[in-house]
Amino acid sequence: MASNKTKINVKDLSLYYGSKHALHKLNIELHKNKITALIGPSGCGKSTFLRCLNRMNDLIDSVKIEGKVIIDGKNIYDADVDEVSVRKRVGMVFQQPNPFPKSIYENVAYAPLKHGIVKKGKECDELVEKSLINAGIWDEVKDILADPGTGLSGGQQQRLCIARTIAVKPDIILMDEPTSALDPISTEKIEALMLELKKEFTIVTVTHNMQQAGRIADMTAFFHMGDIIEYGETEQIFLNPKEKKTEDYITGRFG
Ligand SMILES: Nc1ncnc2c1ncn2[C@@H]1O[C@H](COP(=O)(O)OP(=O)(O)OP(=O)(O)O)[C@@H](O)[C@H]1O
Ligand SMILES: [Mg+2]
Repeated sequence: MASNKTKINVKDLSLYYGSKHALHKLNIELHKNKITALIGPSGCGKSTFLRCLNRMNDLIDSVKIEGKVIIDGKNIYDADVDEVSVRKRVGMVFQQPNPFPKSIYENVAYAPLKHGIVKKGKECDELVEKSLINAGIWDEVKDILADPGTGLSGGQQQRLCIARTIAVKPDIILMDEPTSALDPISTEKIEALMLELKKEFTIVTVTHNMQQAGRIADMTAFFHMGDIIEYGETEQIFLNPKEKKTEDYITGRFG
């Protein structure tokens, strides 16, 4: 039975790309209002796992998924669950900032209007402003809301994408190496933002940056070749790993 701090309970989750078995019966409980970091060498399944949490892998034809991803007590792979509603509740931010080729305002307003979360006009304006404030970018864009989102710097674009994600009021935000394409100052801003956002959201993030995991993650899961080798409090994983493979990885012996 999952404890009451569990937001996402993953049970015996396997994923196949055609005949390739990419995730091997994974079990993990991800905690509410925490940041969980997924670490591990390239190709070990971090992005694949992350995409299972909002059914993004459903979009890939060859994929077969077994097991359960239970969010707030309900398996998101049950037949009666609509994947569009899952993707609304579980937002995602990617490695490369990917604003739409539209204005800054429309980048944030588009999905809430489409989902009927707000009406056009004042209500929408307020949501756009609040989302940009919460994403820590309002002061930089408030006078240029009609300009294209693609004209911003990389770090600003990433914060715009975070604003766009939180505007549809998800519970969970998935981030796949959200700062790896950014300079150190933008990275610091995103990290500070993540620490702020976890008060309201549950965050699962992939990172190759061990220092970053140490700075922001409450919990860390170490992936290796489609398995979760070790999962626990970040401090324990880094200072006192139980598994030799974890220790080898975090001390830079492979990966
Ligand atoms: N669309 C796909 N079709 C077939 N195989 C895939 C696909 N996406 C990923 N894989 C394979 O699944 C395995 C896990 O890949 P995944 O992208 O999840 O790794 P990762 O841990 O995110 O790696 P990285 O750190 O390089 O981003 C790899 O062997 C990869 O080649
Ligand atoms: Mg990846």
